[in-house]
Amino acid sequence: MTDSDTSLVSENLTERKDFVFRKPSSTDGSAVFWLIDQCKPLDVNSMYCNLLQCSHFRDTAILAEQNGQLAGFVSGYRLPERPEVLFVWQLAVAPSARGQGLASQMLLQLLQRLGADVRYLHTSITPSNLASWNTFRKLASSLDTELSTSVMFDQQQHFGGAHDSEELLEIGPFSL
Ligand SMILES: CC(C)(COP(=O)(O)OP(=O)(O)OC[C@H]1O[C@@H](n2cnc3c(N)ncnc32)[C@H](O)[C@@H]1OP(=O)(O)O)[C@@H](O)C(=O)NCCC(=O)NCCS
Repeated sequence: MTDSDTSLVSENLTERKDFVFRKPSSTDGSAVFWLIDQCKPLDVNSMYCNLLQCSHFRDTAILAEQNGQLAGFVSGYRLPERPEVLFVWQLAVAPSARGQGLASQMLLQLLQRLGADVRYLHTSITPSNLASWNTFRKLASSLDTELSTSVMFDQQQHFGGAHDSEELLEIGPFSL
């Protein structure tokens, strides 16, 4: 392995317990599609969308494998007009890997990889998704920072009644 290979591994791949964390690549997109399909209440997007998340947006995404199988995935992007904000688009942990702190580890590892340029995390959650609320409340507590909420997309005004409202969570400022 050359020096440049070694730095690539340390930048893209880290291991903790039996989970292996890395940036996704385009060949992960189809597995991500089937992971999201198992993770209600997440909306399933097109496989093409998952391919874009794993390629164009790979720098702001992370995946976790356990025994060579996809166990978790976070997609996101930095807000175009506020690049210090990471918007987490989807957070998914396979049913068999839940309750082991994997969601929390993926979020922290992604923020650590992004470093000091990112000082806020935003996401949206439906009011009834307790597991997700608890995950992001725990993250804010781990980062020793504030969490505030507001309506991002309203059930009637934005979704025409077809979807529950999405609450915007704003976490920060923090520095890693
Ligand atoms: C939400 C989700 C990602 C959590 O994954 P996870 O790896 O099991 O979460 P963690 O183990 O890191 O738990 C983080 C915190 O949330 C809490 N939590 C996790 N699942 C919970 C549940 N079902 N009910 C209540 N609290 C829960 C944990 O207790 C933990 O807090 P604690 O350490 O203080 O006890 C997972 O349940 C999932 O993929 N759900 C379906 C998709 C989804 O809803 N995604 C989020 C949309 S924004």
